[in-house]
Amino acid sequence: PLMKDLFGLTDLEKRLATHLHLKRVIVVPGDSDQSDWVKKEMGRAVARILKSIAQPDQVVAVAGGTTLAAVAEMMTASSSLKETTFVPARGGLGEAVELEANTIASQMATKSGGKYQLLHVPDQLSDEARETLIKEPHIQEVVELVRSARIVVHGIGDAKAMAERRKSSPQLLAHLQQEGAVGEAFGYYFAPDGRIVYYGRSIGLTLEDLAGADNVITVAGGSDKAASIAAVCPAVGGGTLITDEGAARAILPM
Ligand code: G3H
Repeated sequence: PLMKDLFGLTDLEKRLATHLHLKRVIVVPGDSDQSDWVKKEMGRAVARILKSIAQPDQVVAVAGGTTLAAVAEMMTASSSLKETTFVPARGGLGEAVELEANTIASQMATKSGGKYQLLHVPDQLSDEARETLIKEPHIQEVVELVRSARIVVHGIGDAKAMAERRKSSPQLLAHLQQEGAVGEAFGYYFAPDGRIVYYGRSIGLTLEDLAGADNVITVAGGSDKAASIAAVCPAVGGGTLITDEGAARAILPM
């Protein structure tokens, strides 16, 4: 707390929580666009929260991305997470394996001493193939677990950066630009006013399912993501945000 006050971060946290209509905001010093260790500090903060709010036999659904990978990296063995099952929030969204929610879920379980269940659903499925897959009993079982998650942890991406990283079609890129998409989370793309302008067809958690979770933990930082965070946070609905000083200062009006 002393360090935080020194940097004036407590005040930033309060202002940001009000501005984005969130229950709780944690701001770590620095800007993750500038240095990688800031992303790890956000990861450490999430790991600490997960330990402190854990309940027996809970399900934790996690999304993908480099920020979530930093969360996984910072997890440590914890008796409070031994009975936790980590699951991916959604099936494949076109990310590289290292950044897939499946990979992150298994790493978080391995590091914390918890359990995991995976969703083996490729991205770019035809409607027909997806309908068939959804009927598989094992997939159904995992989807049910995912949708029952007590805690959801996810990142936020810049819409264009995410669409390009996932090798989206030129048509989709044009659509997102035309609709003014600025932010992305779970494969949903948002305009500045929080309107959903597109979502990748996968299976697993839907945006509506978030309302059923006790804790939605958003982790995203870097001044470049300011507009993305400002668009997605209110749309996702009011939980906890872990961010950095770079993003916080860029989001707040002067
Ligand atoms: O959905 C959000 C993205 O996965 C965020 O990715 O943490 O690599 O910026 P990132």
